[in-house]
Amino acid sequence: MPAKSPVIVDLKFIPQEVEDGLKGAFPGREVINLADPAHNGRDLSGIDYAVVWKSDPDLFSRAPDLKVVFSGGAGVDHVLTLPGLPDVPLVRFVDRSLTTRMSEWVVMNCLLHLRQHRAYEARAKAHIWEDLSQPEAADITVGVMGLGVLGQDAIAKLRVMGFKTVGWSRSKKVIEGVETFAGDELDAFLGRTDILVGLLPLTDETRGIFDAGLFSKLSRNGPFGAPVFINGGRGGSQVGADIAAALESGVLGGASLDVFEQEPLDKDSPFWEMDNVYITPHVAASSDVRALFAHAEQQMQRFESGLPLQHLVDRKAGY
Ligand SMILES: NC(=O)c1ccc[n+]([C@@H]2O[C@H](COP(=O)([O-])OP(=O)(O)OC[C@H]3O[C@@H](n4cnc5c(N)ncnc54)[C@H](OP(=O)(O)O)[C@@H]3O)[C@@H](O)[C@H]2O)c1
Repeated sequence: MPAKSPVIVDLKFIPQEVEDGLKGAFPGREVINLADPAHNGRDLSGIDYAVVWKSDPDLFSRAPDLKVVFSGGAGVDHVLTLPGLPDVPLVRFVDRSLTTRMSEWVVMNCLLHLRQHRAYEARAKAHIWEDLSQPEAADITVGVMGLGVLGQDAIAKLRVMGFKTVGWSRSKKVIEGVETFAGDELDAFLGRTDILVGLLPLTDETRGIFDAGLFSKLSRNGPFGAPVFINGGRGGSQVGADIAAALESGVLGGASLDVFEQEPLDKDSPFWEMDNVYITPHVAASSDVRALFAHAEQQMQRFESGLPLQHLVDRKAGY
């Protein structure tokens, strides 16, 4: 049996986490972790695989024989723009734990807005004992933009909590018990949506899609009168200035943002101070490196056995 190809790892994650995650990963393969200075200047020709996230600009010229590239994240917008990315299959990261954690973040934020948590926090700080109106989840329709791995799991879990759900994607999806919309049915979808959840990849088509025009089409018939915007997808899909203006003017009643056009979010951004805005630093669903390496090894074994690779990126569509 031929020796297994080594694997190059070039992940700009927390270095110690990568080092720890590599212990016991990729059994029977040499691992070339480029964070280790011992590999500086090493000849990387003849190597089949690379697992990358924000890799070095010269990686692909140093490793000219790659057969498969693995993205360190579920999104591939960073990978598709890497200089010299070879025209070989690109596999993105799909993982049960990542999916579950994104759904936790989505459900938590829908509940925070439903239960008017910020208003109660403010009252608690001021020692004010006062109740507010209390609609239930079933009074609210959550509209999810992006019905892929993450969007569909989020919808399933929102439904467990009792929320009504609708969804929008590029191609029409059939999801039992959920009204779905596709492509140019966007306005109809928005008109049904009280809480909008963004779980879209960043592509040429989705860049800047969450803007003033879109927010103005959201339903205002929900129990709080004004819609809420929650984005766990990519910051490049939103126009931050439009979100801030919509929150100021009351077009939006609240927001939860995990992603931003510029990350880290500027210390002077108005979002930090806004009353009904929850900010998290792009942590809705971080990649777990052990799971990432297990997923990459599984796909390498499929590839070496002649089975088709899974979770392939459609480069033309950009996700
Ligand atoms: N904040 C975080 O921590 C974090 C963590 C992981 C991932 N993410 C982001 O979440 C994104 C979604 O992940 P996923 O695994 O669910 O991706 P996925 O399985 O590829 O699903 C993407 C969904 O978006 C839809 N879509 C793409 N372009 C569209 C367009 N132009 N118009 C309408 N719908 C469009 C797709 O439509 P079709 O179904 O018709 O193809 C699909 O339903 C990732 O790309 C990543 O950017 C964020």
